[in-house]
Amino acid sequence: MAMIYLNDKLVPESKAVVSVFDHGFLYGDGIYETLRAYEGAVFKLEEHLDRLFHSASLINLRLLKSPEEIEKALYETLRANRLKEAYVRITFSRGAGPIGLDPSLCPKPTFVIIANPFKGYPTSYYKKGVKAAVVKTRRNYKGAIDPQIKSLNFLNNVLAKAEAMERGAYEAVMLNYKGHVAEGTVSNIFFVKDGVICTPSVNAGILDGITRRTIINIAKAAGLTVKEGSFRPDDIYKADEVFLSNTTMEVMPVNQFDDVKFRISAAGVTKAIHKAYKAEVREYLRRRKRPRA
Ligand code: PDD
Repeated sequence: MAMIYLNDKLVPESKAVVSVFDHGFLYGDGIYETLRAYEGAVFKLEEHLDRLFHSASLINLRLLKSPEEIEKALYETLRANRLKEAYVRITFSRGAGPIGLDPSLCPKPTFVIIANPFKGYPTSYYKKGVKAAVVKTRRNYKGAIDPQIKSLNFLNNVLAKAEAMERGAYEAVMLNYKGHVAEGTVSNIFFVKDGVICTPSVNAGILDGITRRTIINIAKAAGLTVKEGSFRPDDIYKADEVFLSNTTMEVMPVNQFDDVKFRISAAGVTKAIHKAYKAEVREYLRRRKRPRA
């Protein structure tokens, strides 16, 4: 049975339960991070922990744990489950407290780490691409729930995903309140036009994806022009290539965006970026494994 890290210790999954008075359950009041372990090492762990603390600060949640303590708990969870290739989710909720919205009703956040074997995606998704569709559900307005908060309040994304599924699409692409392309329900979006890599800027009201940042750096290092800006679906219809990014999928080619089809080419920019991304993961593992002097 899977072992779950709950608050201060590892417990079997059957005992990993939280209160019905937890404000994460009652109000979606909390934050999370999704991470991926390769060969037992969590890629970009520092960046994920930084973003976790950033999300926490944006909702005035004191985690009562240091990044080092969270890292230790994370690796304990991986070891307890004998996992090397893993999907890892860190969750902090406001904690249990009386009914009421006042955050100070909850003295202690609930802390959970789940580590599952990483199952990956069907290889056909990478070879043939996936379908993405612009949905009616708009991305949360920055002044309502800032998309920079990786929040447990995920209804915006859940509704968008349901719409995409109704239309036979794998990922929903949400527009912001201005009608500009924002992001997917669990991913950032990129497109390539005449060799230029384009992606909505963080100002469009999106999550500052860690994979997104990595891809931008890879593209720049390869001498490609990267344009972060405001784009409309029309710009994507005219693109040469489209892809999605996140921690678990890495770089996922899109073969259809709304009604427009895209050819997936082994010689394309998407494939080249994915290859460079994988090389960066390998380099990270190599550096991590090198004995310290
Ligand atoms: N999702 N945008 C949204 C709304 C996301 O939820 C995610 C990540 C991303 C990509 O971020 P990153 O590259 O840091 O994973 C963009 C994770 C995978 C999830 O919800 O499980």
